[in-house]
Amino acid sequence: MTTVIIGSGNVAWHMAKAFKQAGIELVQVFGRNEKELHKLSQEVGVAYSTQELTRADFYLICTSDKAIHEVSKLINYENVLVAHTSGSLSREALEGSYRKASFYPLQTFSKARALDYSRLPFFVDAGWEADNILLMNLAKKISNNVAQINHHQRKQMHLSAVFACNFVNHLYARAQQICQHNDIPFDFLLPLIEETADKIKTLSPMEAQTGPAVRNDQNVIEFQESLISNSELLKVYKTLTESIIKMYEL
Ligand SMILES: NC(=O)c1ccc[n+]([C@@H]2O[C@H](COP(=O)([O-])OP(=O)(O)OC[C@H]3O[C@@H](n4cnc5c(N)ncnc54)[C@H](OP(=O)(O)O)[C@@H]3O)[C@@H](O)[C@H]2O)c1
Repeated sequence: MTTVIIGSGNVAWHMAKAFKQAGIELVQVFGRNEKELHKLSQEVGVAYSTQELTRADFYLICTSDKAIHEVSKLINYENVLVAHTSGSLSREALEGSYRKASFYPLQTFSKARALDYSRLPFFVDAGWEADNILLMNLAKKISNNVAQINHHQRKQMHLSAVFACNFVNHLYARAQQICQHNDIPFDFLLPLIEETADKIKTLSPMEAQTGPAVRNDQNVIEFQESLISNSELLKVYKTLTESIIKMYEL
């Protein structure tokens, strides 16, 4: 199936690499950022354009959510399949007389980080059953972890990913600030961070919880609150402590 990837950001970069590695016929990378498109085109050995969209069977729009609607109007071919990679938007965000779908890869993508695509979860959702089968088969060329979910489930999956990835990463950034302010190398926390992520493969997150909040140890909690001078950080500490305590209340 001939494919064009639209965009040159983190997701476009990884999708282009994943498609190429899987032997999917990528015929063009298209977008507005010539410098990044040029780099991507060299990385995957595919032509790029900022002007003219090549005719293909499948267009994967990997632009920011707010640009998807406008960018989708650039595809003037009929009876082609067009999908976006947004976790939140519906297929109806796409405007054009073509077949519409969502093709959502659930991972945190950064250009600087290589990824093993064989376990990458892909969620597909097309307007027609034949297109669901087509996209499932396409994703299965890349990964062993492919499912069809509806828009409601995808929105909730994305929300859950914000908690499991974006918020957790923000807490790493907060932990790093505390270390930096007190001249302690952040690297000392890496074994703890690794074990925290590792142990939920065998224990549920509820079972894996440790720390003063799950023990409702008010002495330690009040002492730690007294150590925090930054008001934003104190809000985060109090909110998460309360959330943990509430989750374990009988
Ligand atoms: N990042 C993730 O981990 C992740 C995971 C799953 C799904 N997604 C979804 O995948 C999509 C892309 O995310 P991303 O992380 O790759 O974003 P990104 O790295 O910020 O890249 C966004 C891309 O969209 C282009 N763009 C922005 N506004 C545009 C416009 N008005 N017209 C044309 N192109 C425009 C940007 O071009 P410029 O370089 O010129 O700005 C860039 O190529 C989003 O829908 C996101 O929700 C992201």
